[in-house]
Amino acid sequence: MVYYVRQGITTESRHTFDDSTHILKEELFGEESFDGPYSLLYHEREPTRVKSIKRIEKPHLSDGSDEELRHRHLKGSQIKPHGDFISGRTCLMFNDDVEMGLIKPKEQMSYFFRSAINEQLFFVQKGEGELNSSLGTLKFGRGDYIHIPKGTTYQMKCSQGSEFFYVESRERMGIPPRYLNIYGQIKEGSPYYSRDIRHPTLGKPNLEEGDFRVLVDFGDYYLEESRDQHPFDVAGWDGYLFPWAINVSLMAPIVGRLHQPPPVHETFSSKSFMVGTFLPRKYDFHPRAIPISYYHSNIDTDEVLFYSSGNFMSRKGISEGSLTLHVRGLIHGPQPGAVQGAIGKEGTDEVAVMVEAYRPLKLTKEAIAIEDSAYMSSWYT
Ligand SMILES: [Fe+2]
Repeated sequence: MVYYVRQGITTESRHTFDDSTHILKEELFGEESFDGPYSLLYHEREPTRVKSIKRIEKPHLSDGSDEELRHRHLKGSQIKPHGDFISGRTCLMFNDDVEMGLIKPKEQMSYFFRSAINEQLFFVQKGEGELNSSLGTLKFGRGDYIHIPKGTTYQMKCSQGSEFFYVESRERMGIPPRYLNIYGQIKEGSPYYSRDIRHPTLGKPNLEEGDFRVLVDFGDYYLEESRDQHPFDVAGWDGYLFPWAINVSLMAPIVGRLHQPPPVHETFSSKSFMVGTFLPRKYDFHPRAIPISYYHSNIDTDEVLFYSSGNFMSRKGISEGSLTLHVRGLIHGPQPGAVQGAIGKEGTDEVAVMVEAYRPLKLTKEAIAIEDSAYMSSWYT
């Protein structure tokens, strides 16, 4: 749940019509059956009209993990642009709950997409574009998070050279509950607020007829719907469930007299992982503060970082677009010399996305192919 939005033409009351000569087709777009957050969409035509349906095989994720468990550095910059926003996804890490990786699309989508099972989160590393969906258009640019609920039919338009870090989750993923008061409003003291969130703007319904394909993701395979009417024929909608975006430049990172632990940077939560954002911020203001992370062993989580921009002072050899995986149970922390080098520094300009997965992550073969094999020994120099 984000907040209530109403756009375009809706009927005066739910489940009724206002004009018997022009009855809008009402769809309940909701999660958790009829109990979760939802919106009511008013289509000009029947949204159930599907000419044909066919199964399309989906490439399986390749488990590339070897026997050795170690901290990893993946050189994300080595992944070359390919495919479109859907086919161009390079999954790097996954478990039964969550999948994450990079997207560097080379082509525009010629079809529509809907995930039947996953919530989707995208961090825009480069480029700009438009998320077009049944609920309207949402423009995006560098530094945006884009959150797309399960069941949203959409098509992404991206500028040339766009790059994204993505997270797909079986469980609902949203604003951390501890940021919300009992009325559902984001509380004072949270790193972002409802005003910072952007929702789609609905234009006129698209009544175009022709050949339209909607690829529906069921995890192990796709079903392709063939339709003769454009899927974005919504005249109006209202409710609490819709795609939304927030730019990290509007977030207010929480700082303290002493080093703050990663949970203060939490941005999204789910039952099986959390997403945090490390942002430009002033360092700790105790006169003898050590302003970077202390050593830790992440018991019960696998910790992924995607390094977006800035100077990652506690990590040697890391550059923009890199990812690291710090596995549970093996201690990690600043590399040799980093603590001494950090003392007296007043702030950081880093932007990084963190995902802490509560069940162990596997690496794909695509991840192993871009691994910096020297990373584990970077603490022994
Ligand atoms: Fe860590």
